[in-house]
Amino acid sequence: ALNDIHVFPELDSTNRWALQQGVCGDVCLAEQQSAGRGRRGRQWQSPSGVNVYLSVRWCFTPVPEHLPLLSLVTGLAVAEALEDCAIHGHGLKWPNDVYYDGKKLGGILLEAVGSLEQVVIGIGLNVNMLPEAGAEIDQPWTSLQQIAGKPVERNVLVSAVLQRLLKRLRGFSRLDMAQFQTDWQQRDVLLGRQVQALSGTEVLLGLASGINNQGQLIIEFNDGSIKNLSSADVSVRM
Ligand code: BTN
Repeated sequence: ALNDIHVFPELDSTNRWALQQGVCGDVCLAEQQSAGRGRRGRQWQSPSGVNVYLSVRWCFTPVPEHLPLLSLVTGLAVAEALEDCAIHGHGLKWPNDVYYDGKKLGGILLEAVGSLEQVVIGIGLNVNMLPEAGAEIDQPWTSLQQIAGKPVERNVLVSAVLQRLLKRLRGFSRLDMAQFQTDWQQRDVLLGRQVQALSGTEVLLGLASGINNQGQLIIEFNDGSIKNLSSADVSVRM
């Protein structure tokens, strides 16, 4: 269940706070982060007052066997929340980027608390960030304000994200796999596209063909062979 909502003017990282100081059901938000964490040890640019930096600490008893799907399910919750806010045209780039028109709109970072029974779900969304503020970001990105042409109310968005996320977290142990696959497919920006997967020093070129029930990306090659890729091992470029 939801516990407290903690809002800070500044933190190093909402994920770090939730990992070290949070308890089950705590929500943590910051206006800015001095050491925002991205996936693969990258930094998450976190300027003040314009974006959403949100972490939720959640405890599972027992741990569902499909826990590896949680980051994809979180992506679905974020996509649904944007739709609730009348934002459309976005999609999800496996494993957990929120995308719009080939540009990154947000990211998700899950971190485990020791044992897997507790996780911290971190969500970063570019809301009212304008090009100058994100000049240091080293990949194509956009923000909701740039899409909508007007500022977006962050509180409304956070409330929608929390509602959708809590709903999905409460139902997570009873995840309907077929429904999950359908929900993902509807928003999968890689589906049917030629992609480049980097696995160590190996470069794989193939057709992105959806995800399997373990949340792995299915790639089809010219010779008809198929590979299932885990998010821990590969990064994908469109
Ligand atoms: C990614 O690399 O795409 C994941 C980015 C996740 C950023 C969010 S912002 C809130 C939470 N706190 C962090 O330090 N990181 C996540």
